[in-house]
Amino acid sequence: MKIKLKKASLTEVSCDVLIVNLFEKVKIPGGGTGAVDKALDNLISSYVIKKEGFKGKLNEIYILPTHGKIPADKILLVGLGKSEEFEPGKIREVSSKVIRKALSLNAKTVCTILHGAGTAGINPFECAQMIAEGSIIGNYDFDKYKTKKDGEKGKKEIQTLEIVELDQAKQADVKKGIERGSIIARATNRARSLVYEPACEVTPAKLAETALSIEGLECKILEKEDVEKMGMQAYLAVSQGSSEPLKFIHMKYTPSGKIRKKLAIIGKGITFDSGGLDLKPASAMRMMKGDMSGSAATIGIMSVLAELKPGAEIHGIIAACENMPGSKAYKPGDVLKAMNGKTIEVDNTDAEGRLTFADAIHYALEQDVDEIIDIATLTGACVVALGQLAAGIMGNNQKLINALIDSAEKGGERFWQLPLYEEYKDDIKSDIADMKNAGSRYAGASTAGIFLKEFVNGKKWAHIDIAGTAYIDREIKEMPKGATGAGVRAILNYILSL
Ligand code: BES
Ligand code: ZN
Ligand code: MN
Repeated sequence: MKIKLKKASLTEVSCDVLIVNLFEKVKIPGGGTGAVDKALDNLISSYVIKKEGFKGKLNEIYILPTHGKIPADKILLVGLGKSEEFEPGKIREVSSKVIRKALSLNAKTVCTILHGAGTAGINPFECAQMIAEGSIIGNYDFDKYKTKKDGEKGKKEIQTLEIVELDQAKQADVKKGIERGSIIARATNRARSLVYEPACEVTPAKLAETALSIEGLECKILEKEDVEKMGMQAYLAVSQGSSEPLKFIHMKYTPSGKIRKKLAIIGKGITFDSGGLDLKPASAMRMMKGDMSGSAATIGIMSVLAELKPGAEIHGIIAACENMPGSKAYKPGDVLKAMNGKTIEVDNTDAEGRLTFADAIHYALEQDVDEIIDIATLTGACVVALGQLAAGIMGNNQKLINALIDSAEKGGERFWQLPLYEEYKDDIKSDIADMKNAGSRYAGASTAGIFLKEFVNGKKWAHIDIAGTAYIDREIKEMPKGATGAGVRAILNYILSL
């Protein structure tokens, strides 16, 4: 699907589906929708609203054939909800729902009004960005393994989506908004694809290959021998039970001008988490191909930096491996020495993500960064606490946490802060080592966070637990069910705010 600006008026564009909108309580539409209503001899106001009872509720949709009164074949009228509750995120949500409706109508060419730029008064850049983001996210479908595509006459596919705007003063902003929204949505979809791929396909080696293929970055892969030499025993231990070789991935983006900040993003890259010798039951193991969602987000983010050109130096770090119960597997009770010299007693081999992070975080510190953000499907406890609606965020710097919460909200995501009280440390006390890798059943997301904190050495740090948000079983706002690319939009917005 190609998204473009169309310099025209809504009543003269020809397309399969023309999208217009209506706020709740409006009986006689104005603006662009009003012009279309008039061209259709008041069919929208006197029939759709008055007789059919279209209310304009958020995401309410009505399809209306034009019978040749205007060049567009069909009108898709969508409700924007209560005008007093309207905000830019609603444009993204509506755009996603509407594009999927157009797809189901087998539309090839779609035109849309610039939602939000009329009476709502949102700036045209943001309106266009939201339309692009919502449409590209909504239009995405992971169907590469289906041999028979939907529909007998081949796959349903929208070729063009044109944002119709006649006002010259808005056109440049619309173009820029389309570009920004497209980049952010593509990064999100890239992460979604990696998460959808099965573990037999996305191995640590495949993640490394993907990282190496990104243009405009430096990328270094450390092999097992390198990792051994560096003393990353915690990470090595996790990888031992698998026949898939580990790959430690280090991507780096350098801005062309002055470096405003140095940031490390660390993504959990367990390409399959069986639990190890503390094997997961079948139901819990079923979706563990997605235990690399944090690394998928990291790759999605890194893959668009050369286009977005932020002013920060950004490191993308992934300690990728599988967690398997093979004959060389690490065992409960083992004691591991992490790269920073601290010793960890293995309480549970299924608490593997934090072990890989212990070494990845120390590696990030050695890159001399100002801030570390880690993102991981780290704990089932986080899912119990927040469900699929919000990711948990923790850290040692409230300003960074607040900025990430704001960036998430701007991106259509939700981050909710969980505490890191010092007393949680009592839970991971070991009798024979500096700490153990798991505690009691209580506050599991926070004890995982407090474990990670042992390795950040006071550096500004935030930890995002996306165990509940990386893969959803029903649609939430603009995001269809399935892999979500959780964290991509939030962290990209944070990077753009620096
Ligand atoms: N990858 C899992 C966490 C997870 C659970 C992600 C559900 C997505 C959905 C993680 O490695 C894990 O197994 N955590 C354990 C930790 C426990 C053994 C302390 C958990 O949460 O049960
Ligand atoms: Zn895991
Ligand atoms: Mn696990």
